[in-house]
Amino acid sequence: MFHLKTKIAASLALAFLVTSSATFAASKAKQANPQPAPAVPAAPAVTTASTPVADYTSAAALKLRGGKGDAVAGADKAALCQGCHGEEGISTEPLIPKLAGQYGNYIAKQVRNYQAGIRTHQIMGAVAASVTEDELADIGAFFANKPMMKGSGSSANNQLGKDLFMNGDMSRMLVACAQCHGVTGKGKTPENSAFPVLGGQHKDYLLGQLINFRLGDRSNSPGGVMNIMVQRLNDTELEALADYISGL
Ligand code: HEC
Ligand code: HEC
Repeated sequence: MFHLKTKIAASLALAFLVTSSATFAASKAKQANPQPAPAVPAAPAVTTASTPVADYTSAAALKLRGGKGDAVAGADKAALCQGCHGEEGISTEPLIPKLAGQYGNYIAKQVRNYQAGIRTHQIMGAVAASVTEDELADIGAFFANKPMMKGSGSSANNQLGKDLFMNGDMSRMLVACAQCHGVTGKGKTPENSAFPVLGGQHKDYLLGQLINFRLGDRSNSPGGVMNIMVQRLNDTELEALADYISGL
């Protein structure tokens, strides 16, 4: 499905993303534990000890998560979106994603991708075409500053989903999802909008996107990293992941 060039670019992007996360985790670990570094580099498994839990409540974090737009100015401009995505960014329709707490820059990037046809969806494509760049920044900030999307918690007991999310599977070179999306699925740091919030998102929407990535119907992640991730996972595993993540 991938051309060689795309494959190489994707591997590079993956290597970059993973090394930068691993370096970050390693430097945190060093601060916490001033013992000599082990000779064998630690596998990129994620533990709560080495990975900070994303901050999405402090005023400073909310400002960063909002991106460059103005959340107050976004309130009026978001009216067009609220009909489907919910007043507070919590949609009730399982195939319409929640936007509450999502990074402002990620929201803007997705809408730009729909505008450019890099991500395709009939309805969102039509909606995106009517939004200007200025409106987009403010709307992104508006939803980013809404109380964070949240799952019911019950499906967070899905053990298969939890294992894959937290630890990946090194026998298949599968990096843990938490490595990029954060241990609670709410992203990594407030300023890093490359990795979207997933935790608490609708299960059906999540599963739909994972399948789209696997089919190549969605390939707008940097270097196609998400396409590579899901190609290593079977249907049962994708289902388990969507179930687990939606509960966070
Ligand atoms: C008529 C219903 C409808 C309206 C109005 C609408 N959306 Fe959407 N939106 C959707 C659906 C359905 C999807 C899922 C599309 C897909 O599967 O790719 C979506 C997806 C998105 C996504 C992708 C989210 C993610 O997690 O990747 C963003 C961002 C988004 N919409 C922003 C907006 C903004 C901003 C507006 C207002 C300018 C808006 N939408 C208006 C229905 C709507
Ligand atoms: C190397 C980093 C990386 C890893 C590991 C990773 N992701 Fe992602 N993921 C991303 C990036 C970057 C995006 C945003 C793509 C974009 O800009 O459209 C993304 C997007 C997604 C989306 C779409 C979210 C939305 O709102 O539409 C889902 C779902 C997702 N990832 C699930 C997973 C799961 C499940 C795993 C583990 C099996 C995983 N990811 C592992 C980097 C990663």
